[in-house]
Amino acid sequence: MKASDQLLLQNKAWADERRLLDPKSFERQSETQKPRFLWVGCADSRVPAEVVTGSDPGEIFVHRNIANVVVATDLNFMSVLSYAVQVLKVEHVIVCGHEGCGGVRAAMSNTDYGMLNKWLSNIKEVYFSHRQELELIGDKEAREDKLISLNARAQIRQLMKMSIIQEAWHQRRAPMLHAWVYHLSNGNLEELETIGPDTVVPEPFRFHFAPK
Ligand code: CO
Repeated sequence: MKASDQLLLQNKAWADERRLLDPKSFERQSETQKPRFLWVGCADSRVPAEVVTGSDPGEIFVHRNIANVVVATDLNFMSVLSYAVQVLKVEHVIVCGHEGCGGVRAAMSNTDYGMLNKWLSNIKEVYFSHRQELELIGDKEAREDKLISLNARAQIRQLMKMSIIQEAWHQRRAPMLHAWVYHLSNGNLEELETIGPDTVVPEPFRFHFAPK
């Protein structure tokens, strides 16, 4: 049997089981989605948002890329963010990094990855901003873990600088922005930092909006 056929078989078993447990579940879901969370995670196959959070279909709007980076010129990411914040009105945006992130490791190296260099430069910039702190850490793995945390925290700051987020904060005092890290070694998620509508956005990243 082809590996892909295995997936189709597993899907059939999953759908049959769900229908058995809750006969109306697919019917309900085909009408609309009302997720409360936007997940910005790494494309790494070991960190599936729904699985590690024990969530069901319909609960999390998901965007994943290499090393969970927020890039203002990425039309794909910005479309997901805009739809999640302005239309679905999610209450939380979670940027989740993870232990053993190959994207972060590649960004820390001096290897020329060709086309991927441009993407990794987003993480290299985070390294550069914190290089003094990072270079004090002698152990390579510990330094990598530190950059993984710093990267997740840097990405919620990138979100904070965006008018989509600031406008939502102005209009409805949401979403909260969370930086998390997932520990591959034990399956636990850790909250690193949360910022929300009371954050003072530094100049010149602050936008003004008409009074409500
Ligand atoms: Co990764």
